[in-house]
Amino acid sequence: MKKSLGTLAGIVLIALSGSALADEQLEIGQKIYDRAFGRGCGTCHDIASNPQLPALIKAGTLDRAKFEEVLRNGKGGMPKAVDEIMKNKAVEKAGLTEELAIDYLYKYISTK
Ligand code: HEC
Repeated sequence: MKKSLGTLAGIVLIALSGSALADEQLEIGQKIYDRAFGRGCGTCHDIASNPQLPALIKAGTLDRAKFEEVLRNGKGGMPKAVDEIMKNKAVEKAGLTEELAIDYLYKYISTK
């Protein structure tokens, strides 16, 4: 009995720390979204005539690979964004790789 309670407490702890980590990732993603290029991605993307990123992700037409490809190379009026993302204070503070920073940003936009 004691042992199974201990196991249960362990599982609860793991679940809690997992969700705290997920929150931290979304927070960093949001900081990138709100601050990139000074005014954030939303300066352009929250305007209806530009691509609506959350809707594209939900529709399955903007997957993680395509997202990264556009951030790396730019596209039409879309500037290259990876250097800008890596300059973000939250990204620097967490010591993220480019892969992780792009992951967190993609996750955040998926939840918008
Ligand atoms: C100066 C305005 C501007 C800013 C700032 C901007 N974008 Fe864009 N973005 C655009 C435009 C315009 C397009 C459409 C380009 C095209 O299709 O020719 C685009 C396209 C994209 C696409 C491709 C969508 C698709 O499926 O075609 C992605 C992904 C994207 N932007 C992500 C971002 C992210 C993430 C940020 C912030 C780091 C950002 N953009 C900041 C203007 C901007």
